[in-house]
Order: sequence, then structure tokens, then C-alpha cells
Amino acid sequence: MTDGEAWLEKNDRSGKRSRWIVIGVVAAAIIIVIAIVVGVVVSKKNSSSSSSSKSTSAGVVKQTDPNDPSTFVKDSRLKQSFYGIAYTPEGAQLPDCGANLEDVITDIQLLSQLTTRIRLYGADCNQSALVLEAIKQTKVNMQVFLGNYPSATDGGAAYERQRDILKSAVQSYGTDHIAGITVGNEFILNYLNANGGGSSDPDSAVGNQGAEALMVNVTDTRNMLTDLGVSLKVGNADAGSYFNKELLGQVDYGMANVHPWFANVSVDVAAGWTWDFFEEQDVALAQGLSNNPQMSIAETGWPTASSDAGNESNGPSIASEANLQTFLNTFVCQANTNGTEYFFFEFFDEPWKDKQFGGVEGWWGLFYSNRTLKNIEIPDCSSSSSSSAAVVTTTAAST
Ligand SMILES: *[C@@H]1O[C@H](CO)[C@@H](O)[C@H](O)[C@H]1NC(C)=O
Ligand SMILES: *[C@@H]1O[C@H](CO)[C@@H](O)[C@H](O)[C@H]1NC(C)=O
Ligand SMILES: *[C@@H]1O[C@H](CO)[C@@H](O)[C@H](O)[C@H]1NC(C)=O
Ligand SMILES: *[C@@H]1O[C@H](CO)[C@@H](O)[C@H](O)[C@H]1NC(C)=O
Ligand SMILES: *[C@@H]1O[C@H](CO)[C@@H](O)[C@H](O)[C@H]1NC(C)=O
Ligand SMILES: *[C@@H]1O[C@H](CO)[C@@H](O)[C@H](O)[C@H]1NC(C)=O
Repeated sequence: MTDGEAWLEKNDRSGKRSRWIVIGVVAAAIIIVIAIVVGVVVSKKNSSSSSSSKSTSAGVVKQTDPNDPSTFVKDSRLKQSFYGIAYTPEGAQLPDCGANLEDVITDIQLLSQLTTRIRLYGADCNQSALVLEAIKQTKVNMQVFLGNYPSATDGGAAYERQRDILKSAVQSYGTDHIAGITVGNEFILNYLNANGGGSSDPDSAVGNQGAEALMVNVTDTRNMLTDLGVSLKVGNADAGSYFNKELLGQVDYGMANVHPWFANVSVDVAAGWTWDFFEEQDVALAQGLSNNPQMSIAETGWPTASSDAGNESNGPSIASEANLQTFLNTFVCQANTNGTEYFFFEFFDEPWKDKQFGGVEGWWGLFYSNRTLKNIEIPDCSSSSSSSAAVVTTTAAST
């Protein structure tokens, strides 16, 4: 908090918008610090591990042939309106892996009615193969950005473990449904928090050091793919104002977390704020680089609940289904129309996050954790034919 406030003061003259940016960054930083601490505690706990991998999704999606996942019955409330959606399968956290094919098939059946693109964060608990197998069995039109979530402090163990899982998934399933491999999630943000002495400048000396560390893993992933004889994009994901230029200059794509909630932005202006932030912080940065990395919003959304009273409001707005609806109504189809690439955060509520972090962390889903759609109406627009949809709308409005 102290570091954040100092930084905020130092930058105050640049006005209101950058104050929002700073606030968002500070909030994100606090969350990540919590994540690191909890991660360490959890990994120290020597657990009895590999708990039950029982399906929790039985009966959620009907199939006309119970043995053929491609015969699922569509839900008319779901519309394929999202550019992409952020997804973590249930039971994909070490050491308590419980992810299983039946649940992931159900999730893919639901997700495919909302989008043609998903992104994963990591590869542990066999999630890469489970998702690719589910796409195969459901026969849906779906591309997945696989993920490798490395740690900067484990000598490369998490990176290498996940690289090997990714390698075997690519070998088993080929690349038809893989859009890319994302190496690193908020790596520079974490690196600066751990080593930066309060700096939040991703292009500082410490930021460059972090970028070089991650680049070793990016290069290793590229080599792994070359050895397999396949061509796939390799990118990375970070908080929206934490892209290091040298790193972004060497990857194929960058995914940026942009969260109006954590920036204490009112829901009424959240969609516009998100777009402005992304354009100014991320798209502009990429345009200045000669490799022209493809930029997308890695996460944006709105929480519907908080587990404690203190986090029910971000100041101007509360966590609620009504406010998620407002954000959906003002962001999704508009962003499609103007070609903004984003992954809506997120598929369903995640009880493991609520348990570990509390507050709003576990409550960002379009669905509850039991895979029932929340009390929301999914916007009806098509991300793939947005320009013709826009023409139709204009014509209709002018007659
Ligand atoms: C991972 O999932 C795939 C697809 O369901 C399965 O074929 C494979 O056996 C699983 N691997 C492990 C180690 O569980
Ligand atoms: C991955 O990066 C870590 C540092 O973050 C490094 O210790 C490790 O050697 C790297 N491993 C590979 C295979 O690139
Ligand atoms: C693009 O979409 C966003 C998100 O809804 C919106 O806020 C922004 O104003 C749009 N930009 C343009 C140029 O239409
Ligand atoms: C808000 O939630 C965070 C976790 O996201 C928690 O650490 C914090 O104590 C909560 N704050 C209040 C005021 O309840
Ligand atoms: C955002 O608003 C919450 C709730 O009012 C407050 O506790 C928090 O300090 C604010 N965060 C920042 C960075 O101003
Ligand atoms: C799913 O969870 C929601 C929220 O807790 C609850 O209202 C709903 O009744 C549950 N649905 C089923 C089918 O269990």
C-alpha cells in the first residue's frame, strides 16, 4: 500500500485517467502478492493429494445420445457472442488435482455455445489434454490458447513440468484446435513485486531482468515446437500496464488483464474505461514495436458477489448480477463491432479461489460453480460477423 501510494503521488500530475490506471495496477499488485503468499503456503502443505476426480457436472447438459458428447442439446439462452472466454477447469490446481473428462466435456459444451475461443492459464492436472479431448469428442468449433504458468523462484521446475505436459498434448492432438501457447501469467508484475523495491516500471532494470528470465522459457517453448515440427504462436499474458517492451518485442501476442472493478471504476463507465486503458497502455505499446504483436484483453469482467462485506463495493459500484449485466450490455457487442479482442473473465465461479483469497475473487463467473447460468441475459451478437451485424442494425434503425 505504501509503495503504491508513493507511486500514485509521483504520477499524480498526469491526471485522472492515469490515476485510474495506477489504482488498477496497485490493486492488481496487492492481489498478486496475496496469490504468491497463498501459493507458497499451499505448496508447502504436504497434502494427501489426488483427491477424488468425481464428476460434479452430471446432468447439466442433456445429450440425445448419452454416449456421444457431440449430440448435446443447445440452451437457447446462450449466444455465441463472446470473442473469447477465460477458463480454468475445476480441479486443475496442484496438489489436489480433480479435473476429469466428463466435467471438461460439459464445460466445452456450454462454452462452445458462447464463443469459439478460450484461454487456459496453466497446464497442470492434465488440463491441456482434457480440453483438447473434450473439443474432439464434442466436435465443436473451438480454438484454445494453452498456457504455461511458470514461477520465477523455483529454478524452472513449474515451467518444465508444464512444458512436458504441453508437448505431449501437442503430440497427441496436433495443432488444429490450438491457437497458441501462452508462456507466463503476470510474470513481470510478480517479478517486480518480488525484486523491484517498489518499482512498478516494467522497463526498469529489474523489469528487464524478469523479461530476460521469461524469455529463456519462451525460447525453450519455441524450440520444443520446432523439434515437434509444428508452427504455433507463442505469447505471454500480464497485467495491463506491466508489459516489458523487450519481451513484448519478441513474442507473437500479448494478453493484458484490464479490470475496471479493481481500478474502482463505476460500472456505468466501465466498458469505455476498459477500452481506453487497453488502447492507451497495450495497443499503443504494441504498435511501436517492429514485430507487431497481436494484443488482446486477457481478462475483463465484473464480480457478482463478495464473501465479505468489506469487498462488496469497489467504491462507486457493487459486486452484483445486475452490474455484471450492465457490463455485458455495454462491453461485449460494442467491443466485437470495433474489433477489440478480449477474453471475458470468466466461465464459472471458482470455489477454490474463494477459499484461498476471499473477497470477490471466487465470484466472476457467467455461471455459478454448479454450471447453472447466473441471473443474466447473454448479449446477442456475433463476434465473427460483427460488421454485417452492424450494417443490419444501422439499416433497421434508419427505417
Ligand atoms: C490426460 O487426458 C487425456 C484425455 O482425456 C487422457 O487420454 C490421458 O490419459 C490423461 N493423462 C493422464 C496422465 O491422466
Ligand atoms: C525457465 O525459466 C527459469 C527462470 O524463470 C529458469 O530458471 C529455467 O532454467 C528456465 N527453463 C527453461 C528450460 O527454459
Ligand atoms: C469500442 O468498444 C468499446 C467497448 O464497448 C467502447 O467503449 C469504445 O468506445 C469503442 N470504440 C470505438 C472507437 O467505437
Ligand atoms: C477484501 O478481499 C481481500 C481478498 O481479495 C481480503 O484480503 C480483504 O481482507 C478484503 N477486504 C475487506 C475490507 O474485507
Ligand atoms: C477502492 O475502493 C475500496 C472500497 O471503497 C477501498 O477499500 C480501496 O482502498 C480503494 N482502492 C484504491 C486503490 O483506492
Ligand atoms: C446452482 O447454484 C445456484 C447458486 O448457488 C443456486 O441458486 C441453484 O439453485 C443451483 N442449481 C442447481 C441445479 O443446483
